[in-house]
Amino acid sequence: MELDYLEIIKYYGKEILDSKNMQKEKEFMQHGNITVFDHSINVAIECLKLVHRYRIPVDQKTLVRGALLHDYFLYDWHEKDKSHKLHGFIHAEKALTNAEKEYELNEIERNMIYCHMFPLNLRIPKYKESIILTIADKIIATKETLEPYKKLIKVNEKYI
Ligand SMILES: [Fe+2]
Ligand SMILES: [Fe+2]
Repeated sequence: MELDYLEIIKYYGKEILDSKNMQKEKEFMQHGNITVFDHSINVAIECLKLVHRYRIPVDQKTLVRGALLHDYFLYDWHEKDKSHKLHGFIHAEKALTNAEKEYELNEIERNMIYCHMFPLNLRIPKYKESIILTIADKIIATKETLEPYKKLIKVNEKYI
């Protein structure tokens, strides 16, 4: 089942997955033993699961791209650096700035990235894709923190 979602992600996310900076996310850790790259794919899978399970009509390409780029902040937030203390509050905006430099984003993708840290960041998600992403991100962050490696697939090696 997971593999079908991965196929959808590879199809719609190819431009992003193949990019140099996305590949760089494999070097940055997110939660536990999970890299930002794997986290982003896990979140994209969870987004697709939610829309399929609840039959929510969405633009799948937008959903996948926004999910893949939602943590495109491109630094290791565990490194000791003053600004990284504020990671939770600043990284969504940073991710959007980085993503806009490289990709032609639509309004929904921009909103997904910018608002994904709601409610910690008080920027209310405007589209259903944005709301789905905030929920999927929290589900996955919890799983990654509580049980790294157990239920989540390691996807790194599939995108060399
Ligand atoms: Fe995030
Ligand atoms: Fe995230």
